[in-house]
Amino acid sequence: MKYLKVEREEDIVQITISRQDKLNALSLDVMDEFISLLDVLEKDSSRVIIITGEGPKAFSAGADIEYMSNIGPTDAEKYALRGHEVLNKIEKLEKPIIAAVNGYALGGGCELALSCDIRFASPNAQLGQPEVTLGICPGWGGTQRLLRIIGPARAKDLIFSGRKITAEEALSMGLINKIIPSENLLSETRAYAKVLSKNSSFAIGISKMLVNKGTDANLDTGLKLEIYSWAVCFSTKDREERMRKFTEKK
Ligand code: COA
Repeated sequence: MKYLKVEREEDIVQITISRQDKLNALSLDVMDEFISLLDVLEKDSSRVIIITGEGPKAFSAGADIEYMSNIGPTDAEKYALRGHEVLNKIEKLEKPIIAAVNGYALGGGCELALSCDIRFASPNAQLGQPEVTLGICPGWGGTQRLLRIIGPARAKDLIFSGRKITAEEALSMGLINKIIPSENLLSETRAYAKVLSKNSSFAIGISKMLVNKGTDANLDTGLKLEIYSWAVCFSTKDREERMRKFTEKK
């Protein structure tokens, strides 16, 4: 791959967007590489995925403005569809995906982070949806995921103003989970990923699905879905083993 660096340590895969000269902007080529990689990660034995950006400055400065400045609605639709394809895959993949936001996460970069399950950020991170400053609305799920994560009033403030917010402000509105000093961001994210990788990947995957489905379902439907998902967990060897180990220890 040209734009995605992939490193694997035991069950943990780290994807680093590597287009530093353009602040890791998400060109069509980058998005194509994401699709191919996610197709593999969906089926392989990895248990936790980390996404970050190369260099000290940016997680990703978003969709490629140079490319967008020369296209019309037909290509824009294709670009939007490609963005949605990648971000939906991330959201639906039944493994925890953590964004380590190491600098600017703007526009599509912020939307990429929003599609991840957990967001850790360095103190220098700046997040935002500046699309309206370019004459467009967010197009890779920003209006919908931001709304669901931070609520409509805050989502509208960020989208209408296009302002960049600091990691502190992002934390205060629940947009990120934690601020970690830059020099420790990746090591602490990996340590956290390791904790997740020791837990049941089946149970985490099903929990991810339940939380995601529950976001849009009514409470009764969400609770029903939980009952049957919970029951399905009792069909796995993994559950049997984990419970046996617990009772044997006693
Ligand atoms: N798409 C394409 N190229 C981008 C980019 C993007 N989204 N964001 C930055 N770049 C490129 C710049 O054009 C520049 O390339 P060059 O060196 O060939 O001229 C390089 O990355 C460095 O960016 P630069 O603007 O010089 O860095 P800066 O430190 O002055 O500013 C930002 C950093 C993030 C504030 C600024 O780059 C920016 O506002 N980017 C656009 C963010 C955005 O609106 N994203 C949403 C897109 S819908």
